Amino acid sequence: MTTLALNNVRPYGEDETNILIDVDAGVIDSIDGTACTDADEVIDCGGKILLPGLVDMHVHLREPGREDTETIATGSDAAAKGGFTAVFTMANTQPVIDQPFLADAVWEKGQAYGKCDVYPVGSMTKGLKGESLTEIGLMSRGHVKMFSDDGRCVNDPQLMRRAIEYAKAYDVVLAQHAEDHRMTDGACAHEGENAARLGLRGWPRVAEESIVARDLIMTRDYGGRYHLCHASTEGTVSLLRWAKAQGVDVSAEVTPHHLLLTDEKLESFDGVYRVNPPLRENRDTVALRDALLDGTIDVVATDHAPHGSEDKCVEFENAKPGMIGLETSLAIIAKVFVESGLADWRFVAKVMSERPAEILRLADQGRPIEVGEPANLTLVDPEAAWTARGEEMASKSTNTPYEGSEFSARVVGTWLRGAQTFDAVGNGTN
Ligand code: NCD
Ligand code: ZN
Repeated sequence: MTTLALNNVRPYGEDETNILIDVDAGVIDSIDGTACTDADEVIDCGGKILLPGLVDMHVHLREPGREDTETIATGSDAAAKGGFTAVFTMANTQPVIDQPFLADAVWEKGQAYGKCDVYPVGSMTKGLKGESLTEIGLMSRGHVKMFSDDGRCVNDPQLMRRAIEYAKAYDVVLAQHAEDHRMTDGACAHEGENAARLGLRGWPRVAEESIVARDLIMTRDYGGRYHLCHASTEGTVSLLRWAKAQGVDVSAEVTPHHLLLTDEKLESFDGVYRVNPPLRENRDTVALRDALLDGTIDVVATDHAPHGSEDKCVEFENAKPGMIGLETSLAIIAKVFVESGLADWRFVAKVMSERPAEILRLADQGRPIEVGEPANLTLVDPEAAWTARGEEMASKSTNTPYEGSEFSARVVGTWLRGAQTFDAVGNGTN
């Protein structure tokens, strides 16, 4: 048996202990008070925090089609560096992931590279056109656990109803990008004082909330496993709260940028701040934080959306929406919730690993750090004091809205089934 000892670690930021991993089996072999010094590899973790490997329900790895901005390989490197052991990559590639063989290819490439489990998301409608449904049943027999037209909203209510019914029959998750496109034509910023002052066309909250309301009512009446992508408004939070109070079984995600940034950033006219849904106002940020704390919003998802400089370093209204996020996500969640005293590392494990794995029913992710469980693990230095730099990231793109920002918490090691996929000391890869 090949073994790895992680000595002096603090699982969930709690009491220090020593963990021995059976690398061949990819599982935790023992956890006890005595440090193991004769393992094949011994790492003294010096009291750093150990979390279950992080799971991201929403990323864009751009392969196939835009490999100049990200690939399954570079996206897996970025994921591992951010502490992730599983990610779900959206279907809005070129071609769109709307057939089983395309989804299989994404999964196979991710597995062959081996740095992160890359789950393909299948599109709900063919070519993301919003006209006819894809073969949800066929795709669900492969590796597709979630369907989404993300980047576009399934606006047509009758089509959405049919999608809910099919998804229910095949027991898969439907993830909606809630945006009534008829209300956001030409819009590039949150509709509010800032956009008005700067002369930018606004994307009103109601464009999101009206779709959320409709979808929650449909889920109430037709059932199924509905998931809301990137919730961004105070009103969306109220609607989710209303639905959950009535027992409607839905889940929702929030991005680190909607928890931390507001539309005050628009002042710079820097295209790096253009994103869908747009950065909103302080009251939205506060409501989203509260919702994540009380479980109204279930998970954090990065919506890692790489774009090249030709699409970002242009006039604000011409910039493509999207920000990269895999390598800053843990630091932001630690800053907003742990360093502020609002929550502890158990909470971080819940919203960034356990709940997403539960929603997607991943048997081997988001598991407790216990003997016999898969060694999908993330080691965090809570006091690393580091500065975010796009150029230093593993992602192929550099469109981070946090350029030059200082953070405390940093991922320093990631293991997927016992194999190290990121090692800060080894400069990014091993
Ligand atoms: C995403 C992209 O670039 O693919 N952009 C974004 O602003 N979030 C699509 C999406 O998640 O809506
Ligand atoms: Zn989206």
